[in-house]
Amino acid sequence: MFETLKAQPADAILRLIAEYQNDTRPQKIDLGVGVYRNAKGETPILSSVKKAEKMILQEQETKTYLGSGGDPVFNELMQGLIFGEKYASHERIVTLHTPGGSAALCVAAGLILRARRDVALWVPDPTWANHVPLLGGAGLTLKTYAYYDARSKTVRYDEMLKTLSSVNEGDLVLLHGCCHNPTGMDLDRDQWQEIANLVSKRSLVPLVDIAYLGFAEGLEQDAWPVRLLFDAVPEMIVAASCSKNFALYRDRIGSLSIVGRNRAARDILRSQAHNIVRTLYSMPPDHGAAIVRRILGNAGMKSEWATEVDAMRDRLKSMRRLLVDALAMKAKGHDFSHIDRANGLFSFLGVSEAQVDRLKRDYGIYMVGSSRINVAGVTADNVAYLAESVAAVL
Ligand code: LMR
Repeated sequence: MFETLKAQPADAILRLIAEYQNDTRPQKIDLGVGVYRNAKGETPILSSVKKAEKMILQEQETKTYLGSGGDPVFNELMQGLIFGEKYASHERIVTLHTPGGSAALCVAAGLILRARRDVALWVPDPTWANHVPLLGGAGLTLKTYAYYDARSKTVRYDEMLKTLSSVNEGDLVLLHGCCHNPTGMDLDRDQWQEIANLVSKRSLVPLVDIAYLGFAEGLEQDAWPVRLLFDAVPEMIVAASCSKNFALYRDRIGSLSIVGRNRAARDILRSQAHNIVRTLYSMPPDHGAAIVRRILGNAGMKSEWATEVDAMRDRLKSMRRLLVDALAMKAKGHDFSHIDRANGLFSFLGVSEAQVDRLKRDYGIYMVGSSRINVAGVTADNVAYLAESVAAVL
C-alpha cells in the first residue's frame, strides 16, 4: 500500500533547525525558527514556569482524563487574558485548551467546515508558512488578500481594505492579532478600527491568530484588536498560543476561543468543538495548561511572568535597533530601517532567495528563504559579523 506514496519536501522552517545544528562553524547564526533567544542565544525556561512546575510536582494528585475541552480553569484564565478579565466567563465565548495554536487552527477549520462549506477564508499574503498547508489541508477554501509591499516595506493597507470590501458576505478573514508572521508589520489602531467596521458591515467572520500576544507592545495592548473585534461582530474565532509568551514551545499549549451570537449558540459551538477534538486527538495534553493556570491564577506569579514577557519584548526591540544601526554602518546606501518599525520576532531582511542561500552557505547565517529573520537570534556579540555578512552579499 505505502509504495504509492512519495516523500514530502521538508518543512522550510523546521528544516533550518537541523541544518543549523549540523553546521560546525563557530560563527554561525540562527535567525530561522521563531523561538525567543536571550543575549546568550539560549531559549531558557521562564522562572515563573519553573516555579509552576515545582508546584505541579508537589500538588498534582491525578493524571486522569480531562475531557475534550481541556482544563476549565486554564480556559477561563486564557479567555480573561485575551478578551479582558471581565470576560473570563461570558455567555457568548467558549474557550478550549488545545495542543498549541496549531491544533486551535485545526479545530477551527473543522468547525467552519461543519458550519459552511461554501465560504472562503481570506489569508494575508504573506502569512505564516504553515497557515496555508494547515488550513488548506484541513479542507478550507483559501484566498489571499495583499498584505505587505516588499518594495516600500509597508502594509498594503489600501489594497487589503479594497479586497475585503468586495469579498462575499459570510467569508472569513484571517488576521494576525499582533506581530504579523513573517513581516512583523502590524496594523495601527485606526486601521484596526476600520477593519472592525468593515467586517461588521460586510458580515465577515474574523479568525484571529494571536500566537505572539505580549511581544509587540504589551499583554493588554496586544489583545486590544481582539477586544475591538469582539465588540464589533456577532461571531469570531481566536487561536492563541502559549509557545512564545510562556516559552512553552515543546509542551504544545494554546487555546481556541469561539464567539457565538448568544448563550445558546455558544453552547452549540462548545459541543461541536468538543466533538471535533474527540475525533481528532480526543483531548489535549495537560502539562502546559497546568503550568499556565498556576501562573495566571496567582497574582504574584502572574506579575512575575508579565515582567518576563516585558523583558523578552524589550530585548527584541533593542536587537532590532542594534541590527539597524549595524547595517547602516556596514551596508551604506541600503535602507534597513523597516526592521525597527516591525513587532515581535520577525522581519523580512528584504534580500533575494539567492542572497539568503549565500548567507547560509558562505557565512553560516540561517534564515527562511523569504529572507524572514528572527531578530531574537541577534546578539551584541554577533551583530557586527551579521551586518558585515549581509553587506557582503548585497
Ligand atoms: C515560526 O514561524 O517560525 C514559528 O511559528 C514556529 C513554527 O512552527 O513554524
